[in-house]
Amino acid sequence: MAKSAFTLPARGSFPSVELAKKAPKKADALLIAAFSGEDGLEVPGSDALDSAALRATYEALAAVGATGRAGEITRIPAPQDSIAPLIVAVGLGDAELLDDEMLRRHAGTAARALTGAGTVVTTLADFGLTATVEGLILGGYAYRGIRSGETNDSESPASFSVIANKKAAEEFEAARVAAEAVNLARDLVNTPANELYPESYAEFISNEAAAAGLEVEVLDEKQLKKEGYGGIISVGKGSKRPPRLVRLTWAPKDATSTVALVGKGITFDTGGISLKPGAGMWDMISDMGGSAAMAAAIIAAAKLEIPVKVTATLPFAENMPGPGATRPGDVITHYGGITSEVLNTDAEGRLVLADAIARASADKPEYLIETATLTGAQIVALGTRTAGVMGSDLFRDRIAEIGREVGENAWAMPLLEEHDEEVKSQAADIRNINAKREGGMEFAGTYLQKFVGEDIEWAHIDVAGPSWNNGAPHGYTPKRATGVPVRTVVAALREIAES
Ligand code: BES
Ligand code: MN
Ligand code: ZN
Repeated sequence: MAKSAFTLPARGSFPSVELAKKAPKKADALLIAAFSGEDGLEVPGSDALDSAALRATYEALAAVGATGRAGEITRIPAPQDSIAPLIVAVGLGDAELLDDEMLRRHAGTAARALTGAGTVVTTLADFGLTATVEGLILGGYAYRGIRSGETNDSESPASFSVIANKKAAEEFEAARVAAEAVNLARDLVNTPANELYPESYAEFISNEAAAAGLEVEVLDEKQLKKEGYGGIISVGKGSKRPPRLVRLTWAPKDATSTVALVGKGITFDTGGISLKPGAGMWDMISDMGGSAAMAAAIIAAAKLEIPVKVTATLPFAENMPGPGATRPGDVITHYGGITSEVLNTDAEGRLVLADAIARASADKPEYLIETATLTGAQIVALGTRTAGVMGSDLFRDRIAEIGREVGENAWAMPLLEEHDEEVKSQAADIRNINAKREGGMEFAGTYLQKFVGEDIEWAHIDVAGPSWNNGAPHGYTPKRATGVPVRTVVAALREIAES
């Protein structure tokens, strides 16, 4: 293997954010909050504006029609002697209804509006430090692709000084690390499949993980074959680019529990011999989003020194219809021995996940969290912004709740009794698709359940919709890759550490 380290050809840019005890003397802009009260615009007092400046700011904002409604951005020239020539007010709506998610979204909108603004001081952390930091770093992220020519300053993200008590350093750092992990996952997902394929992806992640102090193991196609990873081999063998299995371990001395993370890493999904239609197929560069989220989450766990032993098992393959490809009707043997009849080669995610879940289960972890862009049926059932969570009853419910708490919407879904029959095959232990289309997301959950070891608390998060934003940016969600569900997984690891 060539030793020149693979780097991503283009990365998203996002704001740098630092903690400041008091307002710096000079900046290009001051970002403040505005609310809409019963009598219209309200501008809260803060360290950055004395009472005369506050009054002048209020009057200038009112004069140009600012109302403080949620998400409204208003720019005014600053009163004399201010630290910056420009004041930008972001509307946070009714002060009584403000919660962390609203603050995170509006901070995200503000960060986008301030692209190209240079150095910005902000008082938004008066209403929540974590949400402000996450909103700025997540909302200010922009991926501009692989381009000729230079980017100009108007496209550069702002540098924020967030005014907050220095005692908040730990909270600040946790928010920054989590948000930057999301942006790492976004970079991986946004990279096209001619650049990011199993070998280059494995190399990149290995380097990132090793730099964060993780143990790294990479299995190549020969080792995968030898050790019986029939699902990963089967999906990968239609491509010239052979598959990989990456295992990352964070093993702190003070660990109190063990968690396995598993994520789908299909670097491109053509459907294989069960070929997908051409229109929209380009979005399938995002079919490795589950593995990117898990890689980013375990790297964040190491940076935050979360006291839990975590192992991420990440299967990487490219699903292509090349001459070696798996045929509909083929029977394959997974890691651990269960056999699958492959009736549709486009239901490939579950085939690689089966091996990875079986391998992760062999370590006998207490918890196993797996995430994947697994089914179009997830989008039909829950839309593009809400993940479907299946698994062990209590743990599934808790993961869905954590998702909602951090602003990565998720909903618990059942596994269906009728699928226990439908998953049976004439030709093998189980089959990879159901005969009827109904409940496609849940069927995939039932299929995966067969590979989960006994006595493991298990959650499967289907993020087919939420991992990719095909529309306009909103709140702190940019176009293209969203990085969902990195923050859910990091929050779950934290909670497990504390339990
Ligand atoms: N990667 C797709 C699922 C997907 C679809 C993700 C749309 C994001 C957006 C997955 O591999 C797939 O093709 N699933 C099939 C399963 C079917 C053949 C049972 C699907 O959902 O159509
Ligand atoms: Mn597919
Ligand atoms: Zn897929």
